[in-house]
Amino acid sequence: MQAIDVAIDAAHRAGSHIREHFGRPQRTEMKSPTEIVTQVDRDAEQIIVRTIREAFPGDDFLGEEGHTPQEGAERVWVIDPLDGTRNYALGIPIFCVSIALAVRGHMALGVIYDPLRNETFSAELGGGAFLNGVPVRQLQRKGLNEAVVCVGMVPAQSEDNPELALPMLVQMRHVVAAMRNLGSAALGLAYVASGRIDVSYQDRLSAWDMLAGALLVNEAGGVATDFHGEPIVLSSDSIIAALDPDFHRVVLEIAQDVGRLRDVATAPGAVGVPQPGLD
Ligand code: IPD
Ligand code: CA
Ligand code: CA
Repeated sequence: MQAIDVAIDAAHRAGSHIREHFGRPQRTEMKSPTEIVTQVDRDAEQIIVRTIREAFPGDDFLGEEGHTPQEGAERVWVIDPLDGTRNYALGIPIFCVSIALAVRGHMALGVIYDPLRNETFSAELGGGAFLNGVPVRQLQRKGLNEAVVCVGMVPAQSEDNPELALPMLVQMRHVVAAMRNLGSAALGLAYVASGRIDVSYQDRLSAWDMLAGALLVNEAGGVATDFHGEPIVLSSDSIIAALDPDFHRVVLEIAQDVGRLRDVATAPGAVGVPQPGLD
């Protein structure tokens, strides 16, 4: 079996398990002051790793629920077994499985699976992006004032390094048509790749949240970078993704402006974080 078919199979198996338990009371544990995890997250990761390991016994894994690769591993499967755990635990039907393969740190394939809608988004490097095996539709050009933007935010800000999403939101609302927070970063990226959402951005993400989605967006003909404009790799921690390069450029400029203001505000002796757009 090809690696992409193995990834789709693993995502479907994990997705069936996730779907089967959806709507039942979930016992949740706190992973950090703001993050929860359920047994379904852990079981789904095991299902994915077992499925892939059967096909590729020499490969390594980076999984949100505990798998860590050996240093210098050449082929690393990057897994978010359940992206949107809080939605899932609350019975909100917006979540997905995300699986990417990174070869020497660079994305080779990505699969995002929504088990409730049975939607499989898939891409291989250089091979285009697909939704349920059909190429995603081409970019329909429109103005930024008609754009729908997916905003990801984390609830807590650390004192010395406040996140950028909130001040960006203040800027963005002046220039776009609508904003959404889906509660699943990976699904938001799949929706950008498939043209449902025009832009998605968030800082403070991990590789498993965005690697598959970034490849999907690239392969759909779009642009995905971090907040510095650098390509998405294993060590990236933020993303701006859009099919329209002009939308990407505008949001990147806003991120960089807000980042500069944040840096000034948090420099030694500064008084606080300015709120661009509120002055
Ligand atoms: C979270 C979701 C959420 C994003 C968080 C992620 P999880 O992932 O993608 O949309 O805002 O930053 O941690 O914990 O549900 O896998
Ligand atoms: Ca996640
Ligand atoms: Ca997760």
